[in-house]
Amino acid sequence: MGLFSSSTQTIPALAEIPQHIAVIMDGNGRWARKRFLPRVAGHKRGVETVRNLVKQCAKLNVKFLTLFAFSSENWRRPDDEVSFLMGLFMDALKREVVKLHENNIRLILIGDRSRFNDELVKQIEASEQLTEKNTGLTLTIAANYGGRWDILQATNRMIVANLNKSKDFTEDDLTPYLAMHYATEPDLFIRTGGEKRVSNFLLWQLAYTEFYFTDTLWPDFDDKAFQAAIASYQQRERRFGRTSEQLSNA
Ligand code: IPE
Ligand code: IPE
Ligand code: MG
Repeated sequence: MGLFSSSTQTIPALAEIPQHIAVIMDGNGRWARKRFLPRVAGHKRGVETVRNLVKQCAKLNVKFLTLFAFSSENWRRPDDEVSFLMGLFMDALKREVVKLHENNIRLILIGDRSRFNDELVKQIEASEQLTEKNTGLTLTIAANYGGRWDILQATNRMIVANLNKSKDFTEDDLTPYLAMHYATEPDLFIRTGGEKRVSNFLLWQLAYTEFYFTDTLWPDFDDKAFQAAIASYQQRERRFGRTSEQLSNA
């Protein structure tokens, strides 16, 4: 077991630009209500913000952008809002996937697909297959995702794979089964919309992530707002348990 194999899988090299950015895109409903529009108008507008952020991240050579689009708790919303969100997701996939592919972007969906309709599941699979060999930005969409669901599904699969071994499992045994096994852990977490909570997003993977909260509502999260998040990240000192002195001596 390596020195750093606990608490974070890998200690990332300190870089100016975060390699992996994870975002809770919150505040669409409030954005719409401020304008006396139905909540869903905010979701529609939020898709524009996604498109722009993907472009910015690709330009900055960010390796992984992970967006929370629909939580396992969002099913509790009114039926018409849930079906609007599913429809919007479907339309956005259909409309954007070719453009993503042309830009060498790999698209992956994480979350429990069992509650999606067949048509949506097929569209997701086709989009993933089309882009799977792309080597630029990896764009992960978390839909019907929950951090606790992820840890449990990984634990269950790990146990099944090790049925005839009696051993104490380690982090290294578990992590290959987590939904984001293909990515480094997030360097920067951004939540728009003013709430200061994780809302069951990537619970395991955020162990040592730098957090950035902004009151800006998701549809208003423009280039300038994104640059402010990056600038805040660049001022952090990531110690991973060590002291400041140890870092400056290294
Ligand atoms: C985030 O915006 C989008 C989803 C959860 C799908 P909200 O819909 O939560 O917007 P607010 O928080 O009500 O403003
Ligand atoms: C979190 O936003 C989930 C997504 C952005 C998809 P919510 O607006 O649903 O979060 P809570 O429930 O207010 O914490
Ligand atoms: Mg919200």
